[in-house]
Amino acid sequence: MIIGILKEVIESENRVAITPAVVIKILKLGYEVQVEKSAGARANYTDSAYKQVGATISESSSEIWNQSDIIIKVNPPEKSESASSQLNGNSSLISFFYPRQNKEILKSMAKENVNVFAMDCVPRITRAQKMDALSSMSNVAGSRAVIEASHLFGRFFGGQITAAGKISPAKVLVIGAGVSGLSAIGAAASLGAIVRAFDTRPEVKEQVESLSAEFLTVDIKEDGAGKGGYAKVMSDEYIKSEHKLFEEQCKEVDIIITTALIPGKPAPILLTEKMISLMKPGSVVVDLAAERGGNCCYTKKDQVVNIKGVNIVGYTDLPSRLPSQSSQLYATNVYHLLCDLTPEKNGKININMDDQVIRGMTVINNGEITFPPPEIKKAAPSPVTSTKETKKQNILITKKSIKKTFPVIKFGLALLTLIGIGSVSPPSFMAHFTVFVLGCFVGYMVVWNVTSALHTPLMSVTNAVSSIIIIGALIQISSDNIVLTVMASLAIFITSINIVGGFAVTKRMLEMFKK
Ligand code: NAI
Repeated sequence: MIIGILKEVIESENRVAITPAVVIKILKLGYEVQVEKSAGARANYTDSAYKQVGATISESSSEIWNQSDIIIKVNPPEKSESASSQLNGNSSLISFFYPRQNKEILKSMAKENVNVFAMDCVPRITRAQKMDALSSMSNVAGSRAVIEASHLFGRFFGGQITAAGKISPAKVLVIGAGVSGLSAIGAAASLGAIVRAFDTRPEVKEQVESLSAEFLTVDIKEDGAGKGGYAKVMSDEYIKSEHKLFEEQCKEVDIIITTALIPGKPAPILLTEKMISLMKPGSVVVDLAAERGGNCCYTKKDQVVNIKGVNIVGYTDLPSRLPSQSSQLYATNVYHLLCDLTPEKNGKININMDDQVIRGMTVINNGEITFPPPEIKKAAPSPVTSTKETKKQNILITKKSIKKTFPVIKFGLALLTLIGIGSVSPPSFMAHFTVFVLGCFVGYMVVWNVTSALHTPLMSVTNAVSSIIIIGALIQISSDNIVLTVMASLAIFITSINIVGGFAVTKRMLEMFKK
């Protein structure tokens, strides 16, 4: 079968559905690949790069539509593409499709023998993650949102101490810690900002904290976890307490990235006029939910609006602003779908509608509309798995109890060794040895319990402590020998600089870590 890769017709779209690196893999599945001229140009994939890996280049899109058995695109077919009339009988289309919004196009494409696979309909189950193009794009969007914010923000993200003064780190609040939110948290934290995050699903707390961000909470108890790995609509009372929390945060933070959305619903308004008026001039809001109305009351789709010095970004094309990366991720997601559709690697698709993932993505099968798919039911744990689980748990419990008793055994052995040495060695040795052991213990507790981020201030404080040399100088200063007195005075002077300077630097550094 021939796979055709079209150039995207939307002018602002920079992505391409398949990259040269993925063409190599698709050829191994037994397909031929033809690419429309300049399809990858805006994502920095040249025609010659496609040719080099074995694809052929077609001069026009109609050639691709007419000759291909499987058409692969990024965006849903536009009206101008007349996909329904151009698509060959016995052909298939793979692209984002949004069948709920694009009902007309869905109906018009339901022709005999046509299949349509919607990349936005991948069920959110573990096995399907490799095909989850929405998550891939959200990941890129979250990261790009931070770059857009930093572009408009007039300061550094990270804190610094320079000769020209101290720079405090920027404070970033991420609302909604789903795929894009977590990506934004990671990007902002890696630039050195102090990051806080909020989500209605308490289960994401650990993920947020593992990315070095603080997880904020509200007083009211209501779990936001809904069906299919997505969130549910929260009660009015809950939204009110969220508003209270965000009002407090708006006074403090410099950047807010909002990603709160429940699929198929309009975005909840989480940033009100009052909150924006509380933000400092120069602050930035990046609203990823702009497509569905936005989480901020001022958001305008695909625009940046400035409200009393606060920039509110409503771009809906963030993945397209990192086209090489998003194309590569999207192409890999599509390749995984092709692998599942081509189990025999013979260049022919085999649509297995009993496969939950394929069923979920197939919105037209053999000319018949198959959207929406039936709900995916969670299988009850089988007795076999339960026994396996119990065994696993027992092993874990045994491992844990060994872990608990191990330090007691170690301590007992150390004590016995100490008594053994003490019974044969002179008393002076034991006195020195005890000081040595205590010294090691204190040193260990001081150094090993400090996180690596604080090693620099720790070094400067140990430097200050090492100035203990001052005690030697103080003893010698009252000597009858004038040379000794001068040298001791000099030592006291230099060591004082070391002590005062060391502690001052440590204090300033520690201040940077105060939230
Ligand atoms: P997701 O479903 O993984 O995450 C959304 C998160 O929002 C969930 O964790 C959910 O619990 C949370 N949430 C829902 N209601 C909330 C509330 N009232 N308060 C706080 N948190 C709440 O979705 P994903 O993939 O991260 O996408 C997020 C948004 O970004 C979507 O609107 C998506 O369409 C949009 N997006 C925008 C792009 C752009 O270029 N602007 C590109 C890609 C995605």
